[in-house]
Amino acid sequence: MSHARFPAISDLKFAARKRIPHFVWEYLDSGTGSEATLQRNRAKLDEVLLQPSILHGEFTPDLTTTFLGRDYPLPIGIAPVGMSGLIWPDAEKMLARTAAAEGVPYTISTVATQTPQDVADHHGGQGWFQIYPPRDPAIRADMLKRAKDAGLHTLVLTVDVPVASRRERQTRGGLQQPPKLTPRLAMQAAQCPAWLAGIRKTGMPRMKLMDSYATQKTALPSNQHVGYLLRTSPDWSYVDALRSEWDGPLIIKGVLDSRDAPKLKDAGADALWISNHAGRQFDAAPATIEVLPAIRAATDLPLIMDSGIAGGLDVLRALALGADFIMLGRAFHYGLGAMGEAGAAHVVDIIRQDMIANMGQLGARTLTDLPARLIKEQT
Ligand code: LAC
Repeated sequence: MSHARFPAISDLKFAARKRIPHFVWEYLDSGTGSEATLQRNRAKLDEVLLQPSILHGEFTPDLTTTFLGRDYPLPIGIAPVGMSGLIWPDAEKMLARTAAAEGVPYTISTVATQTPQDVADHHGGQGWFQIYPPRDPAIRADMLKRAKDAGLHTLVLTVDVPVASRRERQTRGGLQQPPKLTPRLAMQAAQCPAWLAGIRKTGMPRMKLMDSYATQKTALPSNQHVGYLLRTSPDWSYVDALRSEWDGPLIIKGVLDSRDAPKLKDAGADALWISNHAGRQFDAAPATIEVLPAIRAATDLPLIMDSGIAGGLDVLRALALGADFIMLGRAFHYGLGAMGEAGAAHVVDIIRQDMIANMGQLGARTLTDLPARLIKEQT
């Protein structure tokens, strides 16, 4: 039924766009600058060609994998997304429950609208915590404790936001921090009754984890995003400090330069997350799929990749080029916007069905068969 209506993630996107108010949509869907990087992520994925196989007989592909010592039914997970619960009301709990049901990881963002404690009873052991580096070591220690107490066992340090990027579409859209329904935005919200009904239940979402620390301070300038008041631009010594305070797996997110890979291993990273923040930070960045081979060659650390993944075939492309695990952020929110909570599981199923169909074409029985299917001489 869902597949008849929404066979692809692009169908979910089309439906979600109508059900999410415009100013929120602009936050979710935009990149920085002229969105060249956003488009490049997609274009470079499309250029990766794989060799189909003939006469390989019948088989059922095995999509399972092990990542950082845990078994997964397929090599995908839910990336952190800021203001998730504004994009779709109660998104954080819905995504945590989906992760639990599907057996895939869910990464809750520091700047989500709900806290690690809010999702603690929902993630079923699949929760990861993404940290934007607080300047104050006491706040950092408290955040790490809250994450651990909530059962979020894997820590993701985002390093590709040294400063706020310019997001011109977001600015035009008019989203403020904390979010406020001005008359113009209220008119947009009125056209999205399912979203509005959800927001009436949750209240206007705010960055709740950040707010819990901001209340300890006085006189925050109202034009500034609370996230940037509490956080700093981390340096290498910050990674060392975090490593010494966190005894679980530590993943560094936002890696694009292969020269950083060995240094990050020395600093104690357990995995690297290749990302250009889905085109939201720097508009002359390479596509993640372009830098993946050099990073694969530079390290034996497990590699996650995100930015621009639009379906199961893209997952296979990234695996063929050396990624171990793939994350999606926007796609899961398209799913929620189109279908509500069931939409997140539907995203997983679209990817699963895509992977099965394409592994059949490739004659790939397991994920480890994929690198051999890469066509090396590409235009
Ligand atoms: C963003 C931040 C929150 O991309 O990661 O909007």
